[in-house]
Amino acid sequence: MSASPDRVAGASPDGVASAALDALAAAKPATVAKPRPQAPGEPAQIVWEEAAGAEGAARTCQARWRSESGQAPPRRVVVADDTMKADTAWRLACEGSALLWRGDYHNARQLLQAMARRADGRARKPGKAPRPPAIPSEAFHLHRMAQAQRARTLGMLLIPFEAGAQIPLRRAPAVAEVLAEAVAGTPDADLADAPFVMSLRELLGLIGAHEWRRKGVAIPVLGERIHPWYGVYSPIRGEYLDLVARVPLPARTLAFDIGTGTGVIAALLARRGVARVLATDLSPRALGCAQDNLARLGLLAEAAGPGGALRATTRANSGATARAHELPAGRVELLQADLFPPGRAPLVVCNPPWVPAKPSSAIEQAVYDPDSRMLRCFLSGLAEHLEEGGEGWLILSDLAERLGLRTRAHLLGWIEAAGLRVLGREDIRPRHGKVADADDPLHVARAAETTSLWRLGVPKH
Ligand SMILES: C[S@@+](CC[C@H](N)C(=O)[O-])C[C@H]1O[C@@H](n2cnc3c(N)ncnc32)[C@H](O)[C@@H]1O
Repeated sequence: MSASPDRVAGASPDGVASAALDALAAAKPATVAKPRPQAPGEPAQIVWEEAAGAEGAARTCQARWRSESGQAPPRRVVVADDTMKADTAWRLACEGSALLWRGDYHNARQLLQAMARRADGRARKPGKAPRPPAIPSEAFHLHRMAQAQRARTLGMLLIPFEAGAQIPLRRAPAVAEVLAEAVAGTPDADLADAPFVMSLRELLGLIGAHEWRRKGVAIPVLGERIHPWYGVYSPIRGEYLDLVARVPLPARTLAFDIGTGTGVIAALLARRGVARVLATDLSPRALGCAQDNLARLGLLAEAAGPGGALRATTRANSGATARAHELPAGRVELLQADLFPPGRAPLVVCNPPWVPAKPSSAIEQAVYDPDSRMLRCFLSGLAEHLEEGGEGWLILSDLAERLGLRTRAHLLGWIEAAGLRVLGREDIRPRHGKVADADDPLHVARAAETTSLWRLGVPKH
């Protein structure tokens, strides 16, 4: 689905506005209606006052509040429409008043763009934007704070939904499928049963994720496309996969892929001829996504039969890939587990989130690893899950070190404390666009970043 940026003549939210409504919004404080207390486990509610009937008498309205980032329902809500000027909307949002949109859907999108320009313009304005601090970790934390503030303010433009996930606005797209896809298997799975409200910014994120899932991401070393789901780590920065594709395999019998995400590493190992890959993840969304990708690639093992033999699912495109790979492809089994599956393997691969910081939303959990928990637990548990002479492959960028969030000495200390030895290391430089973006507050660290595949083993005694 794509929404065109056209606008209704005479109703530009960034320009033409009704002086009357603007004056009203400027003069009158936003109405505060108190929600009834939320019972434990009950979904959050948003409450607002809305004019009703010919006389316009206000009535209190309430609907379920949905926020992927866990943002609390706004306490002040103003009903807004096509007559609202972008400056007014921006000011209200900065003051903490949410705008519940009742106008044209495309005008809401344009209003959001206009608000984003104000947010970005303010950050860039000479004299207003503070110079990035010289200490990289400070620059990182300030950058995240600024991003969070931007997200909060732009998240103040809200879209109402009726039951069935219909948007009751002019020129609104049909998004029921997008919504159902994003919330499947989550506590919000029943979202469409009743009216609800979500920020337009979040809705646009869901629509973008839907498109990405549909089109997929090309993975050259696999010769295939991988289709990331909403909230699942996307292998868009593929250079780490070049490392997984080129480092010699210690064995072709069995491998563990810890934190499989879209299943891309498991697929690559299976295509390299590893007969059996056991792939784990904690996230149900990741497991659903990996299952979908591996089935599409014909690499998903069905449940073991009575004799223990694994059968392959039918391949949709067997011809193309059979030509690209000489070895018969292995099969992947998926398992929900905290890190390791039971047992040992001659190869255990893990690509943990690279940056030790607290995720601010569910979708950041694959990117940020608070206190390097996954990294440290992978290292401390690795020896117990490696067969004799086996290798653990840790994929890690040094961005966290360059940002001053972790030191190389910490990493080497954890490796040593886990009774592991570094057998070798393969490095690669990132190719993504951010590397060249001199305006990026983290440019210095990103421009020097290196991604490594650390080959780890247990020393022989
Ligand atoms: C950086 S992503 C890597 C995904 C995929 N392996 C790749 O390389 O594209 C890290 C993955 O680890 C998963 N994860 C985080 N903590 C985990 C844990 N304790 N056990 C299993 N998986 C975990 C996340 O859900 C996420 O899918």
